[in-house]
Amino acid sequence: MREPFDLYSPEIDADPFPHYELLREKYPCYWSESGKLWILSRFEDVSRAAQDWETFSSSQGNMIDEIPGRAGATLGTTDPPRHDRLRALSQAAFLRRNLDQTIAPTLEIADRSLEKILARKSFEFVEDYSSQITVGLLFRTLGLPERDHNEIRRNVILAVSTDKAAKGRTEEHLAAFKYISDFLGEEVARRRAEPKDDLITHLAEAEIDGDRLSEREIVMTTATFVMAGVESLSSFMSVFAKNLHDYPDARRRIVANFDLLQPAIEESLRFNTSAQRFKRVVMKETQVHGQTLKPGDKVALAYGSANRDWRKFRNPDVYDIERRPQGHLGFGAGKHFCLGSQMARMVTELSMRRFLEKIPNYQLTENSVAWNTSSNFRSPVALPFEIV
Ligand code: HEM
Repeated sequence: MREPFDLYSPEIDADPFPHYELLREKYPCYWSESGKLWILSRFEDVSRAAQDWETFSSSQGNMIDEIPGRAGATLGTTDPPRHDRLRALSQAAFLRRNLDQTIAPTLEIADRSLEKILARKSFEFVEDYSSQITVGLLFRTLGLPERDHNEIRRNVILAVSTDKAAKGRTEEHLAAFKYISDFLGEEVARRRAEPKDDLITHLAEAEIDGDRLSEREIVMTTATFVMAGVESLSSFMSVFAKNLHDYPDARRRIVANFDLLQPAIEESLRFNTSAQRFKRVVMKETQVHGQTLKPGDKVALAYGSANRDWRKFRNPDVYDIERRPQGHLGFGAGKHFCLGSQMARMVTELSMRRFLEKIPNYQLTENSVAWNTSSNFRSPVALPFEIV
């Protein structure tokens, strides 16, 4: 029998939503043979599990196809009390600069990118706009050299990708993560010798009651920021631009009234967040919809599905920029709620406003869009647009 939800099927990357619906309605606690893990898909179950870290632990990693070396060393791969300590120290480092200062270069990078785009009639949104902004901004925040942008971005995308045939990561994917962590390891060592006013230095200097992050924790936490900034944020911005392409009426209304931009971003986070599914491991036996989940079992929390549950959101498959969805799970929930959520919202709002002011109307030049292969994330490979 064909699996109702095959994590490694290209259909799931392109459009997981009809498959999620089948899970929510018929198999709310579903054992996936392909992924060898349970999938929770209803809002209430996903939300509850995300908050119950004592039963659903992150300590063995939160990537469905785990990246060796991450577990236990960074925010997304630890439970309290270790997680509370890492989160407090990371927040202390983040707060050395206020958010406005951190996101200040956004418009400058946006303008520079738009100048190049406007000189041509067609452009590729992911390469020419969303990645330029998010990688550029993150590199400045972390104090990393600009020349390495493209190489890091290429390796981040590889590191979070999955090989369909191998049903997991291959040597190539693991080598990409090693490239990122080696690169960051060298940068951390450099900051130790020569501190700067940047996030890596602030992470290295963060101290609470005499406690500091270890070398490995600084490297892995920095890698989390790089991966979240490059993958989650630029992918989300791209998905948002595609939503506004697919729903031209919503785009026209935003262009006529930019007060609608912020609620539209919130609706896209609900409708199709780039962070679709995250892993947990069961710590104590528990029952969900009549199924027994045993210690050691892996579980995927399908945030993307929970956000389409009619039990929580009325007409969930309708894209409604004035919905103002309360409590959606686009940034997760509980202890691991996204640390960059405010930054992500503000950067998307600033960048997309600038974009729509200059390019209020754009059209895809190809009939279909290719999607990256990942068990956790959903993102278009490329969005070739032309200015209309
Ligand atoms: C729209 C863009 C983004 C989306 C959709 C997103 C989504 C998420 C989600 C769903 C989680 C929870 C993971 C889990 O449950 O295991 C998470 C965690 C996290 N995110 Fe984001 N994220 C975004 C942007 C960012 C940015 C820009 C940063 C920072 C530069 C960031 C940093 C983090 C960190 C550090 C965590 C781990 C928090 C913890 O475990 O305590 N994210 N994100």
